Amino acid sequence: MLPAWALLAFCSFVLSTTRDVSPGICFQTFNLGVKPGFPKTIETNNPGVLKAARHSAERFNNCTNDIFLYKESHVSRALVQIVKGLKYMLDVKIGRTTCKKTKHPSLDNCDFQTNYTLKQILSCYSEVWVIPWLQRFEVSVLHCH
Ligand SMILES: *[C@@H]1O[C@H](CO)[C@@H](O)[C@H](O)[C@H]1NC(C)=O
Ligand SMILES: *[C@@H]1O[C@H](CO)[C@@H](O)[C@H](O)[C@H]1NC(C)=O
Repeated sequence: MLPAWALLAFCSFVLSTTRDVSPGICFQTFNLGVKPGFPKTIETNNPGVLKAARHSAERFNNCTNDIFLYKESHVSRALVQIVKGLKYMLDVKIGRTTCKKTKHPSLDNCDFQTNYTLKQILSCYSEVWVIPWLQRFEVSVLHCH
């Protein structure tokens, strides 16, 4: 959640520089900010972010028919939002490993491909919804290219 002072500062900036802005618009912005559920940036090495990145890779593996498993390699941006638990929004790179899907290895033990023809890194955007107290998670959005 953004601190209230940041939004107040933003509001007064808008009011002092733009004569046409009505106080109503400013007030709405302020309200949106103090409600729970405003997405905020979070450290990309946060344990929750890393777990969400792993869930995204697992989901990717489950949805593709590549013979190799893919694994998360780098989270470049992370946002978190409180929605009955936590919803993570990630820009994450996932890469092809040397582990074959059929062997069901743990991704922790899989190294990235070094073979030039097999090497592949994809840029993905994912949204992962986690309810920690139920140990439940759901990858609700996953776009890779
Ligand atoms: C994997 O895919 C199957 C069928 O496509 C689906 O039923 C299952 O929920 C998926 N699991 C995960 C973790 O996404
Ligand atoms: C890289 O992978 C290709 C395709 O599987 C294979 O033909 C080639 O021999 C591999 N190269 C090396 C150096 O392992």
